[in-house]
Amino acid sequence: MNNTVLEPFKPEPLATQATRVSIDLGARSYDIWIGAGLWSEAAAWQGLPKAAMAVVVTNTTVGPLYADALKQALEPHYARIEVVSLADGEQFKDMAHLQQILDAMLEWRADRKTVVFALGGGVVGDMAGFAAACYMRGVPFVQVPTTLLSQVDSSVGGKTGVNHPLGKNMIGAFYQPARVICDLDVFRTLPAREYAAGLAEVIKYGPIADMAFFGWLEGNAEALVARDVAVLTAAVRRSCEIKAWVVGQDEREGGLRAILNFGHTFGHAIETGMGYGEWLHGEGVAAGMVMAADLSQRLGLCDARLPQRLRNMLQQVGLPVQGPWLGAEERLAAAQRYLALMRLDKKAEAGAIRFVVVSGQGLAQVVEAPDAMVLEVVQQALTH
Ligand code: NAD
Ligand code: GLY
Repeated sequence: MNNTVLEPFKPEPLATQATRVSIDLGARSYDIWIGAGLWSEAAAWQGLPKAAMAVVVTNTTVGPLYADALKQALEPHYARIEVVSLADGEQFKDMAHLQQILDAMLEWRADRKTVVFALGGGVVGDMAGFAAACYMRGVPFVQVPTTLLSQVDSSVGGKTGVNHPLGKNMIGAFYQPARVICDLDVFRTLPAREYAAGLAEVIKYGPIADMAFFGWLEGNAEALVARDVAVLTAAVRRSCEIKAWVVGQDEREGGLRAILNFGHTFGHAIETGMGYGEWLHGEGVAAGMVMAADLSQRLGLCDARLPQRLRNMLQQVGLPVQGPWLGAEERLAAAQRYLALMRLDKKAEAGAIRFVVVSGQGLAQVVEAPDAMVLEVVQQALTH
């Protein structure tokens, strides 16, 4: 466990030069590099684990855009660089595609020192990280996240894995990277919907840990939407600081780490109920955060300002703040569908649904809530 006090948010002066956040996990500590133009910033690629071979895991969308730039950055450090390109999509985050990575590494005779580089969004990062955890019982890996969501959330903290037909992310390992390199230039090609979905996870860090950061995000909503590099540098940095602070205290989710799931219980019900791919994860989290904030208010933990501020902020960046009806015709029947789906969520314990709720002062906790109250919350939040 590291220092439990989160350093105050210091947004000024805004700057565009690269910055670093350290994640303190004893022998598994590492740095997150954040900045535009890191592909050509030699320092970002120095001091990585030494090896004869690097294996870049990417997908058919990201590879053509960035694999050459990554190879150029790696060439001074690795004599041989191989690339394995996976099909693009959450539906391919499975054992068969994990096998594709492992097969390629075996065919190339990758050894215990070979370094795996994950070049892509959260899907690639989770799979490459899990492959690195499994190959010869563990080889080093480096995250090079290319979506906003993966830069502020999935690449940091060491959760790796694949989906199983019976459940999302059910097979995996905690396995920390040796470094995370967040080049902000990649957002130039990121589709607007994916970018906005990543902003949901940035916004999440405010209510759970830092309302000063939330206020700053409110003041910079336009610049965020415009992908302003200086504002993004500060936003990605603060998000990573908060994630590092949480993970540094609770690496394996014994307690505190669960607060990162603010909005996710409702959000997962939306994702599952709509069928994966209809709503992006961050979109479900956005509507889910509004519901979780409303639940917090009904439980007497915060006043009406927080749900209202969240709604405004999410709408400003183009995210949904209301939930879909999940095929139901009656409002109550729709809310009951949410409830049934949330009982199946892997965060439920013995059928009891666990919600992350917030205080309005940047504090979060995990609670259970009466079904009747949850049904009210969902009914209130459905589209009209
Ligand atoms: P993703 O990896 O599917 O990427 C979204 C889409 O954007 C893909 O089509 C991808 O090819 C494309 N893309 C990526 N970077 C691009 C770029 N720079 N330009 C153009 N297109 C680009 O989705 P995601 O939102 O990054 O990640 C979602 C995954 O992350 C889920 O599988 C989820 O379970 C996982 N996740 C893991 C953690 C964790 O802690 N490990 C946390 C949150 C989410
Ligand atoms: N995204 C949740 C976690 O990393 O724990």
